[in-house]
Amino acid sequence: MIDQVTIERIQDAARIVDVVSDFITLRKRGANYVGLCPFHDDHTPSFYVSPAKNICKCFACGEGGAPVHFIMKHEQLSYYEALKYLAKKYHIEFEEKELTDEEKQEQSIRESLFILNEYARDFFVKTLHEHPEGKAVGMSYFRERGFRDDIIKKFQLGYSLEQRDAFSAEALRAGHQREYLLKTGLAVGGENMLSLTDRFRGRVIFPVHTLSGKVVAFGGRILKKAENTGKYINSPESEIYSKSNELYGIYFAKNAIVKQDRCYLVEGYTDVISMHQAGIENVVASLGTALTHGQIRLIRRFSNNITVLYDGDTAGINAALRGIDLLLEEGMNVKVVLLPDGEDPDSFARKQNAESFTRYIDEHEVDFIRFKTRLLLEEAVDDPIKRAGLIANLVQSISVIPNTITRSVYVHDCANLLDVDEKMLVREVNKIRLKNFEKQKKRSSDKKEDLPVDPHDAFRSIFSEDPYEKYERQIIRYIIRYGMKPIYRRFEKEKRREGKKAIEVDVLVEEGPLVIHFVKYDLERDHIEFTHPLYRQVFEEAVEKSVEADFVPDKYFLYHPDSKISELASEVMTDKYHLSKIHAKLLGESMNDKDSCLIEENSLETLVPRATTELKNAYILQKIEKVKKAMQTADSNQMITLLQELQQLQNIKKELAKILGERIILKY
Ligand code: CTP
Ligand code: MN
Repeated sequence: MIDQVTIERIQDAARIVDVVSDFITLRKRGANYVGLCPFHDDHTPSFYVSPAKNICKCFACGEGGAPVHFIMKHEQLSYYEALKYLAKKYHIEFEEKELTDEEKQEQSIRESLFILNEYARDFFVKTLHEHPEGKAVGMSYFRERGFRDDIIKKFQLGYSLEQRDAFSAEALRAGHQREYLLKTGLAVGGENMLSLTDRFRGRVIFPVHTLSGKVVAFGGRILKKAENTGKYINSPESEIYSKSNELYGIYFAKNAIVKQDRCYLVEGYTDVISMHQAGIENVVASLGTALTHGQIRLIRRFSNNITVLYDGDTAGINAALRGIDLLLEEGMNVKVVLLPDGEDPDSFARKQNAESFTRYIDEHEVDFIRFKTRLLLEEAVDDPIKRAGLIANLVQSISVIPNTITRSVYVHDCANLLDVDEKMLVREVNKIRLKNFEKQKKRSSDKKEDLPVDPHDAFRSIFSEDPYEKYERQIIRYIIRYGMKPIYRRFEKEKRREGKKAIEVDVLVEEGPLVIHFVKYDLERDHIEFTHPLYRQVFEEAVEKSVEADFVPDKYFLYHPDSKISELASEVMTDKYHLSKIHAKLLGESMNDKDSCLIEENSLETLVPRATTELKNAYILQKIEKVKKAMQTADSNQMITLLQELQQLQNIKKELAKILGERIILKY
């Protein structure tokens, strides 16, 4: 961990123009710089860099942010990795935060395991290239498979000798500890002081890299057929390796995935390597196991589009089917390609080049619903019971898709393909969704921390018509832009003497509360809280930080480690929004954006209370709706109370209307 002071020093030092110029050519345009956007296929310069705001933004695809976010996205690094990158660039020495003894020990174990894995990787690589057995056996195997030298180097492929403890003995001699050899799984046995046995013997070695390129595990492939051992042996899980959170090839694929905005998913080591060799680099492998949520999230950091490539045999197809519901559930757009019979991505890539392979994919990829329908239809043509099963199966898949629009498109397609009533399908899908939602609600109330994947998204998908969202956003916008500004300042003219002359100066005589504090007290007074989780978090953090005199909300949120928050900040910082509209209405002026920002800052006294009032108004309108609804089914007793309540609400509405101005209220 980097301590907060250093983080701030890094953020202060990093200049957006320098940082971006390391990767793209910028040209000056007015006060800003422009260039081709690195995040999408840009043909006219859409990427703007503002030295004044120290942020960048693409006006076509919307990517951008502060220097650290640019680096995170461009280099596909985590927040801390990106900070370290910038620290290095600006020669800022960073002290890692003091860890507790326990943390230190844990960290040092993890570090030792990584060091040992790196040592092992180098050892296997060296053996492959220099040892007679490595050259004769390992290298000739790779050659036979047609792996090029540059690819063998890039993927750091290696070879482990036949000798029982060739590696362990060497590692111990080099000072690595027994304990770590066992923990990484590089060696086994060694009870009763017997010597260790290497896990990988007489195999070609495929190191498995993390997102940032560290080696967490190895796979070893046997060269000869037969024997009672598996074709592949893999490292066991360890303190540094959790199989379900890694994907083979992600380190080499991440940039290409972003660039192509698509990730190919294959099964094995050799599929990834052969596709790279053919020039297709946006490819990762699940290593023969079923996909996990963790792996999908790893891909989703870079793209929402995934194409699953599978062998045309039944095993391949079944594997493809198993993974798909999980992908859909995570909101991925899933396509499937079946390769020609008898081919896997590896063998197919060796016969193609990037262009012809990509063309094959483009021509043969089908979205999952067609894929599944076609497949299951073959088995179920004339059998009504099987047909019913097929429909249930498809409905199940569609119901896990989080996005409402995507879901309805699939329902529509599915109804067409199967020639069934669309309304019936919608009903079935909704039934399952309701059931799942209730299950989820129960689960998350049983266990608070086990909320759905992303509470923000889940919230939105369930209450997609949030009546308060836009009002809350408006308030949050003022919090981020002007949170620490007093809501008003009053000046008085004072006569002063300057030498012989009498001059008039403005003297500050009164200052209102800070915007953050005004909002807090104004909403609390009416028992209103932010309902939108993201806005609520921003607000709570702003309140907490506001006691520090040097808290700068726009900067703080722009550099926030939570990318959702930094994105929000960058949006509200750059949006010109309905400024001119509101201003024209409120202040009776029309103006350009620059003026309008200035005027906005000087009109907080009008604008901020107006924003909180609008939110309150939304609550009152909701309540009125509710009372009206209740009146439809009320008996005469209840009716009296309801009418009184309604009267009261109408009165409040009228009061609020006065504050907001009739013009605007009439809209409702
Ligand atoms: N696998 C494994 N253990 C096995 C068989 C397979 O761990 N005994 C994993 C490996 O990660 C392998 C993937 O499943 O890469 C896919 O298996 P397969 O298609 O059989 O292997 P390939 O990668 O195609 O390897 P090769 O082409 O060398 O046979
Ligand atoms: Mn293969």
